[in-house]
Amino acid sequence: MLATGKPVSPAESRIPGFYRLPLHERQQYIAERLGVALDELQQRLAHGGLSAEVADKTIENAIGTYGLPLGVAPNFRVNGVDRWVPMVVEEPSVIAAASNAAKMVRASGGFLASMLDTCMTGQIELRAVADLPGARQAIEASRAQLLQSAANATPSLVRRGGGPRDLEVRQLGTDTLVVHIHVDCQDAMGANLVNTIAEALGPELARLAQAQLGLRILTNLCDRRRVQASCRIEFAHLASVRTGDDPATEQASGRTVAEAVVQASRFAELDPYRAATHNKGVMNGVDSVVIATGNDYRAVEAGAHAYAARTGRYEPLAKWTLGDECLQGKLEMPLALGIVGGTIRIHPTAQLALALLDVKSAPELAEVAACVGLASNLAALRALGTVGIQHGHMSLHARSVAVAAGAELGEVDEVARLLVAGAVISESAARTIIEHVRSNAGERQ
Ligand code: MEV
Repeated sequence: MLATGKPVSPAESRIPGFYRLPLHERQQYIAERLGVALDELQQRLAHGGLSAEVADKTIENAIGTYGLPLGVAPNFRVNGVDRWVPMVVEEPSVIAAASNAAKMVRASGGFLASMLDTCMTGQIELRAVADLPGARQAIEASRAQLLQSAANATPSLVRRGGGPRDLEVRQLGTDTLVVHIHVDCQDAMGANLVNTIAEALGPELARLAQAQLGLRILTNLCDRRRVQASCRIEFAHLASVRTGDDPATEQASGRTVAEAVVQASRFAELDPYRAATHNKGVMNGVDSVVIATGNDYRAVEAGAHAYAARTGRYEPLAKWTLGDECLQGKLEMPLALGIVGGTIRIHPTAQLALALLDVKSAPELAEVAACVGLASNLAALRALGTVGIQHGHMSLHARSVAVAAGAELGEVDEVARLLVAGAVISESAARTIIEHVRSNAGERQ
């Protein structure tokens, strides 16, 4: 039950008008979903959930913590399961846009997503190899032993059902080999596991190849650990014109919107300059979930963009095409996420975000994050291909402009409303409005 008395179903991620609820009612709903009292949730979220003392044990030279807004996106349905998605992001409109796109996708059945593999890859560089074919042969002949040594280096991962799965040898230039060790990291992001294995195997590989041992480190281009997300939206659910009683007009409007999205996708396919911004829109969604769940967003970003450029040309991670009376979108990218280990162990808000998402495995988390990326991309292309991005963005941005201009919390909504009505959304316009609002309030007293 919300504080307003509205009943809620725990499984539903669709609560119409959720964004209109006051902050404490949203918190109340989320507390109920998590099965905790409202004051406990508020305590866990205070100061971004992380104390300065814990921060001091996390990084070097800590002087405090740095707050970012944490929101939730409703409406997501992924592989038939409803999800409330925690998103950490400083940019207005990202959460609203993703939720809105998720609502349209939901009306046509929701997102589908799957993780192709959970293997992370470590690299061991072998330099100054005099006999490349001989070195390669020696490594191949010792494959089973090498995989066993790799397994011995991470016994607890092996006990959990993961561990080294495969080994590959690549040649670089005229005297260098690089050995790739593929490790199933299960529910961990896996950087430490893979680096431990790479360092453990290095000396033996250098001996076998009669080489000088070079770097031993994971690659963030973890192109085995890829996730695919897709969706289809019937034209009627894409319509920018809502007539309510004229399905033909809505259908036609939806087709026009779908064509605009496909053209925008094509622009990104043809032009790396556009693809970079297109992918930024995808990462708006992905990163927000990655950060909320305490994962390494730099690793995710590095992998995403390296993968986008894998053919030698930088390409969009998500593409849109027309289907039978529908728009269809597909996203594919590497996504190395964990639900155990790393920051997650010590960050109460990351734990809360994972509990809210209710994912049972790292692949499930990656599947949801990819769908949020696809939703963010859809929302951006739909706006760009129709009314433009500034219309919606600036109205949401108006509230932070009002705060920056000095509006008190109780004045923000009124100042933002007047800013949007005046069509000039700037700090100086906001200051004038604040003075006006205050003098009106003074006169009323
Ligand atoms: C802004 O954060 C993201 C967009 O620029 C993405 C895009 O252009 O596709 C709107």
